[in-house]
Amino acid sequence: MNFLSLIETKREGGTLASNQIHAFIREFTAGRIPDYQMAAMLMAIYFRGLDTAETTALTLAMRDSGRVLQFPRDSRPLVDKHSTGGIGDKVSLPLAPLLACLGFRVPMISGRGLGITGGTLDKLDSIPGFQTLLSPGKIIAQVQRIGCVICGQTDTMVPADQKLYALRDASGTVPSMPLITASILSKKLAENLDALLLDVKFGCAAFMPTRAAARQLAKRMVALGRECGVNTRALLTGMDTPVGRSAGNWLEVKEAVACLEGAGPTDLLELVIDSAAHLLVQTGASPSLPAARQRAKDCLNSGAPRRKWDEMLAAQGADLKAFHRKLTLDSTATTVLEVRSGKTGYISKCDARLLGEILRDLGAGRLTKESSIHVEVGLDCIAKPGEWMKPSSTLCRIHATDAAQAKAMVRRIKAAFKITPQRPSPTPLIAEIVR
Ligand code: URA
Repeated sequence: MNFLSLIETKREGGTLASNQIHAFIREFTAGRIPDYQMAAMLMAIYFRGLDTAETTALTLAMRDSGRVLQFPRDSRPLVDKHSTGGIGDKVSLPLAPLLACLGFRVPMISGRGLGITGGTLDKLDSIPGFQTLLSPGKIIAQVQRIGCVICGQTDTMVPADQKLYALRDASGTVPSMPLITASILSKKLAENLDALLLDVKFGCAAFMPTRAAARQLAKRMVALGRECGVNTRALLTGMDTPVGRSAGNWLEVKEAVACLEGAGPTDLLELVIDSAAHLLVQTGASPSLPAARQRAKDCLNSGAPRRKWDEMLAAQGADLKAFHRKLTLDSTATTVLEVRSGKTGYISKCDARLLGEILRDLGAGRLTKESSIHVEVGLDCIAKPGEWMKPSSTLCRIHATDAAQAKAMVRRIKAAFKITPQRPSPTPLIAEIVR
C-alpha cells in the first residue's frame, strides 16, 4: 500500500477506506511508518476531519493494535466510566468499589494527568505501596475475584494510542474531535465492556470549552460506542468550578475516602451516585433513575464500598497500615497555609482554570508527559460558589513543598475567587444526558 498517497488523499479532503486506515495503524504500530509520516497524517485529519465510518475504522484499528481483555462468562456486567478530565475530579476512586458492591465487574483502566487536569493514576500513586502497573492476566483475575481494579494501560493494550498520543502532543493535534473520540473509545473498547458512562466536561478548565462542543463530542462517542456493541451514555457536566473541596493527588484520595465514609462534599457525592445510577439503568439492573439512585445511596451507606476500597488496595499491593496512618494526618506536605477571604459577600466564582494552573505550579500536575509530580501538594477546604464569606473565612488552604512557594500563591488564589453581594443562582451539576 502506498502510504504517502493515503496522506495526500486525506490532505485533499478525500475519504479513506476502512482497510486503508487499519493498514496505516497496523504499520505505524509495528514501526514501519515513520513518525514524520504519521504526524503529517494527523495534521491532515486535524484540518479535514474524519467521517463516521472513518472514525469507527480508526477506533477499531487502535483497539485491535493490542490485546483486548477477555473475561470469563459471568452474570455480573462489565462496566466503566470515563471522564474527559477536570480539576478535583476524583469520582472514579469511590465509584469503582461502589459499582463492584452493586454487582458489576469494573476493569477501570485509567490515565495520568497532563497540563492542568489531574489523572487517576497520579492520585493512586500517593497510596503507599499501591501498584498501578498490572498485566492483563492480573487485571482479569482481580476483577473476577473482587469486582474492581483501577490500573494503568499495559504496553500490550492499545499500543497505537500510546504512540499516537505522544505524537499528537508533539505535533499540536490533540484537540481534534475524531482523534479524541478514537483515543478514548479504543481504550474503553479494549476493556470489552457491556456498558460505558462518559462524563464529558465543559467549561473554563475542560478540554471542551463550551457545552455545544462537549455535546458534539458526547454524541459522537455515544453513537460510536453503541455501534461497537457497548451500551454507552454520556453526562455533560460543568467544569468552571473544581469538583469537591480538595484538589491535588493525595488530598483527593483523602476526599474520596471521606465520600466512601458518607462525609464527602455534596457535589462529589451527587456525581458518584448519579454515575452509578446511570450504569444500573443502562444495564437493566434498575428500572428507573430515581430507583437506581436510591439503590446506589443505600449501598454507599451500608459501608460495603468502603471495605471494598481497602480490599482493592490490598489486592494491588498497598500497605494498608501506612495508608490508614496517612489518612489521620492533617497534611503530608511540608507547609500548610490558610488563605482568608478578606471580604464579605457570596462566592460567585471559583475559577477552576486558575486553580488548576496554581496546582500545576505547586507541582501537583505536569507541564509535559516527562515531568515528575509531588503527590502531597494541593488545595483543600476550597470555598464553593454560593457560600457566604466573612473577611476571616477560608477561601482554601495551600499544601506546598515550602513556605515561600505557598506564600507566592496567595495573590493568585485570591484572584481565582470572586466575591459579590448577590448570591449567584445555582447551576445544575449535570447539565445534560446524551443517550
Ligand atoms: N483523553 C484521552 O485518552 N485521549 C484524548 O485524546 C483526549 C483525552
